[in-house]
Amino acid sequence: MSSEDLRKKYIEFFKGKGHTQIPSASLVPENDPTTLFISAGMQPLVPYLLGALHPAGKRLVNFQKCVRTGDIDEVGDTFHHTFFEMLGNWSLGDYFKEDSIKWSYEFLTQELDIAPERIKVSVFAGNDEAVKDEESAQIWRSLGIPEDKIMYLGKEDNWWATGITGPCGPDTEIFVDGVEIWNNVFMAFNRKADGSLEELPRKNVDTGMGLERALAVLNGSDDNYQTDLFAPIIQKITEVTAKRYSEQTKWIRRIADHTKAATFIITEGVEPSNVGRGYVLRRLLRRSMRYLHKLGAGISTISQIAQTTIDKYSLIYPELSQNNPQILAILEKEQHKFTEPINDLEIYRQDLEVAFKNQIIKKIGSIPILLSPNVASGQYVFENYQTYGVPPDLAEEIVYELGLEFDKSGLEKALNEHQHKSRTASSGMFKGGLVHHSETTTKLHTATHLLQQALRLVLGEHVSQKGSNITEERLRFDLSHPEKLTNEQIKEVENLVNQKIIENIPVTVETMNKEEALNSGARAFFAEKYGDQVTVYTIGEFSQEICGGPHVKQTGEVGSFKITKEEAVSAGVRRIYATVS
Ligand code: ALA
Repeated sequence: MSSEDLRKKYIEFFKGKGHTQIPSASLVPENDPTTLFISAGMQPLVPYLLGALHPAGKRLVNFQKCVRTGDIDEVGDTFHHTFFEMLGNWSLGDYFKEDSIKWSYEFLTQELDIAPERIKVSVFAGNDEAVKDEESAQIWRSLGIPEDKIMYLGKEDNWWATGITGPCGPDTEIFVDGVEIWNNVFMAFNRKADGSLEELPRKNVDTGMGLERALAVLNGSDDNYQTDLFAPIIQKITEVTAKRYSEQTKWIRRIADHTKAATFIITEGVEPSNVGRGYVLRRLLRRSMRYLHKLGAGISTISQIAQTTIDKYSLIYPELSQNNPQILAILEKEQHKFTEPINDLEIYRQDLEVAFKNQIIKKIGSIPILLSPNVASGQYVFENYQTYGVPPDLAEEIVYELGLEFDKSGLEKALNEHQHKSRTASSGMFKGGLVHHSETTTKLHTATHLLQQALRLVLGEHVSQKGSNITEERLRFDLSHPEKLTNEQIKEVENLVNQKIIENIPVTVETMNKEEALNSGARAFFAEKYGDQVTVYTIGEFSQEICGGPHVKQTGEVGSFKITKEEAVSAGVRRIYATVS
């Protein structure tokens, strides 16, 4: 079966059960401030899972492009990916466990002709928060699944949550030939910022089936990379490296996966940089280029692999071919920038090898390359990064490839100290510093935080940031909200912001780890990420956000705040323009 057949069958089947197909959302989240990329089909649907009405109705189906980078080091085996697609169907307060499970079973056994004997399932075993999911087990029994093929598992396996906060619930997972292919989540709960669980007003179903994995299983293969979703890309890599897939499987898979993910990410308008999404992109590209280099191909061949990806996916995702020239231009620029670091990386590998064999111990300043006979120094890797731009994550990989140990905490300590120093330096950065922020844009930054909180207080907790842009003249803020703001609401928001300005509240900043920040209720749109440390700006009791700044010291400095325009951006998203004077 081809990926096309599987996509089509899935969508048609659920359309036949009253679902409306919705398009794959952009990989860059529009309404979820807590993550850099969409990592599950349900993520763009969070506001609707929490109760907002979806314009396409209560039964939805789609395939969604996803990026998950948490397992990037696992990529290289048969089934981990940073980019993958998820087939999903949803009930927003409509059908629940019975129809969901029956339809999944019907789809697998009738549409895909999977013999029932190949199917095994797991259900939630229950804990002090939620009961054992006997109901789902009973539905499976009624479909003929024997008792010994129904496993009861705990929270680790059979509870699915959006994140630290947000919709969540017990799930039932479906395995074919021992491989998990489908997850049906019964999202009846919302995890609040204080950690407590509340029942949602409407119970939802969220399902997700990994397209690559399901396809491999259907074709009797245990290697996702041997499906048509990878075949032309792998073929291209074997051509440019002149290596056989069977010989260099792990590296070829990594190149295919990372280049594919990077191609999709660039298509969203992301460019390589050292923070946030740009950093993820840069990392994917640089890893890919290093593996190409390692396999004896020039790093410029990454463009050919990206082109093969574009050609493979353009029918499904036309945005790839629409952005073809931009994608190639960005790749070329990044290749250029990486030429020197990749040579320095090679030098590091050689130095490390020599040091390990105890001939010469290379030093940068007074820092030796080895911490002890078989442990590579983290501080050296940091100095090597500072001095020659050798990316620490790649240096670390090389350490492991040589069979050595790595002093990761030394690297982290050096990075943190450096970050702290540059932050202190950046307090005097307004005049000709690293990033230019004028007094006005600084005021507008703080005004944006005040505005967001005021909107949440006036319109409700459903309001979340979907975008923000600041120029010398004005701020622009996009928010999730289903309808036009009334004049009264605009006035009320404006007054509230001005009230907080008059109160002249101090704006404080601190660095904490990301989880701690989110747990303490900080809002986050773009989480600046390095080693999970984030900066959090707090405006008294009023607002707390993860943000890179800069901000004024006291809200009084913002001056007078005025909303100049309110308009629609798309279904469920409004845009506000405002000025300060
Ligand atoms: N949201 C669920 C998952 O990603 C379906 O597994």
